[in-house]
Amino acid sequence: MTARILVMPGDGVGPEICREAVRVLETLAHDHGLDIELEEALVGGAAIDAAGDPLPESSLVAAREADAILFGAIGGPAWDSQPRDKRPESGLLRLRSELELFANLRPAILYPQLAYASALKPEIVSGLDIMIVRELTGGIYFGKPAGTLTNDQGHREAFNTMRYDEVEIERIGRRAFEIAGARNGRLCSVDKANVLDVSQLWRDVMNELAADYPQVSLTHMYVDNAAMQMVRAPKQFDTVVTGNLFGDILSDAAAMLTGSIGMLPSASMDRHGKGMYEPVHGSAPDIAGQGVANPLAAILSVAMLLRYSLKRGDLADKVESAVGYALDRGLRTRDIMDHETQVASTQEMGGAIVDMLR
Ligand code: IPM
Ligand code: MG
Repeated sequence: MTARILVMPGDGVGPEICREAVRVLETLAHDHGLDIELEEALVGGAAIDAAGDPLPESSLVAAREADAILFGAIGGPAWDSQPRDKRPESGLLRLRSELELFANLRPAILYPQLAYASALKPEIVSGLDIMIVRELTGGIYFGKPAGTLTNDQGHREAFNTMRYDEVEIERIGRRAFEIAGARNGRLCSVDKANVLDVSQLWRDVMNELAADYPQVSLTHMYVDNAAMQMVRAPKQFDTVVTGNLFGDILSDAAAMLTGSIGMLPSASMDRHGKGMYEPVHGSAPDIAGQGVANPLAAILSVAMLLRYSLKRGDLADKVESAVGYALDRGLRTRDIMDHETQVASTQEMGGAIVDMLR
């Protein structure tokens, strides 16, 4: 059966890295019998400029109909002063919410070839392999009430609400227990239960779920400590499960351990395994259009798409090994460069992966 893949390049470096990721998909279709149909849709600032909406109805419909989505990046200074619902980020948040992509998987893996690029000492990060499971459609990102008002004292006031019901916690919890069970059997749930009621409920539900997963050992950590441990001794973590806001912050910290956020893919999945795959990095407007962005996060997102949505782990392995070979051969984009290696452009890096897949 032909799988329909929707590509949503977005803004900034999004289009240039998606171009390389699409070349990888096309190569797999041409040389390895992958049966796919590619389509493209507007999102983010590009969609605001073309249609006045960061997620036009036609894009949402295409996203619903697709079997999997490859997403580039969104945002940029041109749209930052717009009202919130007309900002690029709203398009991404609506996509996550409308498609119920509640389970966000953000692996942080250190490629041994890139140990020098990490902000931390090699002995602290070598062999690092963490999976952050972030809740993506609830918490303070979506909690109501939220808004801005003028209060009784005549001061401007703004508020958001962090809330989770037990059903939302249970579904992300079960996903995390399953993932931890398929890895090392260690799951660390991160919360702020010493202060927040919503975190206490989170912790209670995680503890209740633990009974169903005897092969997984569950621990808990407060988010402030988790941030510290992440840069002090990150290898103590295997699978981490946490809410939307904490996961946003911790996954950026984890990304930096691996040398470059330009290397990290992610998957956002619904209950049926339909997914949207995107690099963890953003639109990087400062380097957009220069052909220097690292396409590997987008290409590794293709690997996740193959593995999780198309059930083609065999092809995912091929893509991931091709990335390893390219690094072995000394290819480096600017973000992961060192003195002994040659600088590759976005296109050269993509081309190297494509050559290896042929
Ligand atoms: C991410 C990003 C998004 C988020 C922004 C762009 C809305 O930072 O995917 O981590 O906060 O979730
Ligand atoms: Mg983020």
